[in-house]
Amino acid sequence: MRIGIIGSGMMGSTLGVLWAKAGHEVRYASRHPETLTELVAKTGATATAGTVEDTASWAEVVFFGVPFSAMPELAKNLMGPLAGKLILDAGNLIPNRDGALVDAVKKLGNGSGGWVQAQLPTSSVVKAFNTVHFKNLAEGAHREGDRIGVPLAGNDGRAMKKAEGLVLDAGFDPVLTGDIAASARFDFGTKVWNTNMTGPQVREALGL
Ligand SMILES: NC(=O)c1ccc[n+]([C@@H]2O[C@H](COP(=O)([O-])OP(=O)(O)OC[C@H]3O[C@@H](n4cnc5c(N)ncnc54)[C@H](OP(=O)(O)O)[C@@H]3O)[C@@H](O)[C@H]2O)c1
Repeated sequence: MRIGIIGSGMMGSTLGVLWAKAGHEVRYASRHPETLTELVAKTGATATAGTVEDTASWAEVVFFGVPFSAMPELAKNLMGPLAGKLILDAGNLIPNRDGALVDAVKKLGNGSGGWVQAQLPTSSVVKAFNTVHFKNLAEGAHREGDRIGVPLAGNDGRAMKKAEGLVLDAGFDPVLTGDIAASARFDFGTKVWNTNMTGPQVREALGL
């Protein structure tokens, strides 16, 4: 699959490497793509770098690994190229950091994923990977025994199936929690957030 990574920082670069290893074509985006040469070389022969807009158009699936506060403008600018595509949203909304957006998301009442879905109504948003620290992603991928659990929430069944496959390809245990409103159950500060729980432990904690 052609996976565009918008926000090639700690999360985006870690997952990009894992997806490239699984055989996907990865394009990293940055506002300064020329800074990504080393990351592209490390990721492998099929990896490329581009601008945010170019990556959004090229990709079949887009992973967002940007500060939550960047999402309103990105969603507005990229709605066209992202239409009809699966969007994996790893963003965390953090009260003392993300200001007014915290109230806007609370008001909507569908978790951080529900808010992103409302900004990108023509895309299929799946909340994914927001609970796992990037170092645990890098160190725990494809490990023996119970794997790290990655809760997923989304409204579109086909997009959820694709997201599930991408979690497996990266080396983790996908935990399907429900529609996008269920993202509230694993947002920042919930009992499964940043705990490094295994898939079975996440299922038990969420009563699934
Ligand atoms: N770090 C973790 O362990 C972790 C775990 C789970 C979830 N998360 C969440 O995942 C998201 C990303 O976290 P991170 O730690 O990977 O952040 P990071 O290392 O700071 O990377 C964020 C990237 O976003 C890009 N960016 C920032 N503002 C942008 C804008 N306006 N337009 C386009 N790109 C922009 C930056 O790229 P350029 O400057 O190159 O454009 C930067 O490389 C956050 O919401 C975070 O809460 C983080």
